[in-house]
Amino acid sequence: MVRKGGGDGATQFDPSVADLTSSDVLAKPDSRLLKSIHEGRPNTAMDAWKSKLSDEAIRDVLAYALTFSR
Ligand code: HEM
Repeated sequence: MVRKGGGDGATQFDPSVADLTSSDVLAKPDSRLLKSIHEGRPNTAMDAWKSKLSDEAIRDVLAYALTFSR
């Protein structure tokens, strides 16, 4: 079953999409997660969103994603 934020909605990526409800991700400070969304993650499918989303929208989308587990 696909869980919200579980990263298992799209399975074609290597490395796979992060599970935003995992302790791996939740252990990272918000500032670090915001940077990942801003700049993307090198050598992964996680693209930079800073040209598409405002800083405020990036904060909002992270806050929303973190409600899946917190
Ligand atoms: C606005 C939409 C998105 C948001 C808010 C978002 C958010 C995140 C966050 C917070 C992480 C964790 C990064 C970390 O551990 O530092 C992550 C990782 C990741 N995301 Fe996204 N993501 C988005 C869209 C996407 C899309 C569309 C894809 C695939 C096409 C994707 C692929 C990935 C992958 C592969 C990782 C793991 C990167 C790694 O191994 O370090 N993301 N994402």
